[in-house]
Amino acid sequence: MKIKNNQSLNEWINDEDWEEELFPLRKQPAAKNRLTARPQQTQTPPAGAAEDHEDHFDFSYHASRHERQWIEDSLGRFYQQHWIDDVSRLLKGGKEASVYLCQGNPTAPAEQMAAKVYRPRKFRNLKNDWVYRENRANRDSSGNIITDDGLLHAMRKKTSLGMQLLHGAWIEHEYQTLLRLQNAGVNAPAVYARGDNAILMEYFGDGVLPAPTLNEIDLDPAETRRVFERVFQNIERMLELNIIHGDLSAYNILYWDGDIRLIDFPQAISPHENHNAWPIFSRDVARVCEYFSEQGLSGLNPAQLARDLWRSRRLSTVPALDPQYLDADNPEDRARWQSARDED
Ligand SMILES: Nc1ncnc2c1ncn2[C@@H]1O[C@H](COP(=O)(O)OP(=O)(O)OP(=O)(O)O)[C@@H](O)[C@H]1O
Ligand SMILES: [Mg+2]
Repeated sequence: MKIKNNQSLNEWINDEDWEEELFPLRKQPAAKNRLTARPQQTQTPPAGAAEDHEDHFDFSYHASRHERQWIEDSLGRFYQQHWIDDVSRLLKGGKEASVYLCQGNPTAPAEQMAAKVYRPRKFRNLKNDWVYRENRANRDSSGNIITDDGLLHAMRKKTSLGMQLLHGAWIEHEYQTLLRLQNAGVNAPAVYARGDNAILMEYFGDGVLPAPTLNEIDLDPAETRRVFERVFQNIERMLELNIIHGDLSAYNILYWDGDIRLIDFPQAISPHENHNAWPIFSRDVARVCEYFSEQGLSGLNPAQLARDLWRSRRLSTVPALDPQYLDADNPEDRARWQSARDED
C-alpha cells in the first residue's frame, strides 16, 4: 500500500467557524427533554460506570477554546460514564463531523475508540436532503420515532427546533444503521455508544496512524482485486439488509492491514422506501468502480454490476419517480435516472 498524499491529520479549524456554528445553538432555550435524554448505550456501560466521574472532563488534545467547549459538551457524557478517559487527537475534520481519537477507560471494550462529533447545522447541507429522508422515520436521541404533530411540523418548516430535531435524527439514523450492520457482520465500525451529538465507535488504525481512506492510497494489483471483491460483498450484504449507503466512494472506505471498514452512514436509505433508491445505488456502485478502475482493475462494468445486484434482490431498476422527487438542478441525477429508465 502506498500513501498517495501527505495530508496533515490535524486539519486547521478556524475559530470563527466554530463561533458562527456554536453560538446560535447555545443561544437556543433549554432543549426539550427528548433532546437531552441520556445517551443510549449499545453495550452496557463499562463496569464501574454506575457512579459517574465527579471530576471535570479534561483531555490532552490541544483544541481551540470553542472546539474544546464543543468537545466537552459532546463527549463529556462518555467520560462521565467511563467509556473514555481522554481525547488525544483530531483524526479528521470532515464536512459534517470531526472524528477524534479517544483513549478508552480500562473497563471499556477497547483501548482506543473513535468519536464522531457532528458539526451543528452542517447536516446534508444540501437543498435536496429530503431525497435521503423520504419515508424514513425520524427518531429522537432516545431512539423513539417522533410522532408529535407539532414537532413534525417544526421539522417540515425547518424552524430552529425542527433543525435541532433533524440534526438528532441524522445522528440517530447513522447510529441505528451502524448497529444493524454490526449485527449482520458488515465491515463497518463496531458502535459502542451514542450521545446527543456524537457516536463512539471502533477506531480503525493503530497507535500511530489512523486507517487511510481508499482514495488516499494505491494498492498492489493482487490486493486491488481482493479489496474490490470485499467491498462488493459488503454492498451485496447491505442490500440484503435493505441498506444502501448513499454516499459510498473511496472517500468513505477505510483500509488497514488488508482489512476494510465502510464508514459515514447518516444518509443511508432503504431500496423499498426511497423513490431514488436505484439511481442512488447505481451511483454508489459507479463511484466505487471508478476508484478500482483507476487502480488498474480492467473490464469493470458498473452499470451491469449494479443491475445484477439490484435484480438479484428482485428490485426494479425503473425508478418509480414522482417528478417532485427529481432534483431539477442536477443534470447528472437526471441523466442517470433517464438512462436507467431507458435501459430497463
Ligand atoms: N472509525 C474510524 N476510525 C478511524 N478513522 C475514522 C473512523 N471514522 C471516521 N474516521 C476518519 O474521519 C473521517 C470523517 O469521517 P466521516 O466520513 O464519517 O465523517 P464526515 O463528516 O461525513 O466526513 P466527510 O465529510 O469527509 O465525508 C474519515 O474520512 C476518516 O478519515
Ligand atoms: Mg465521509
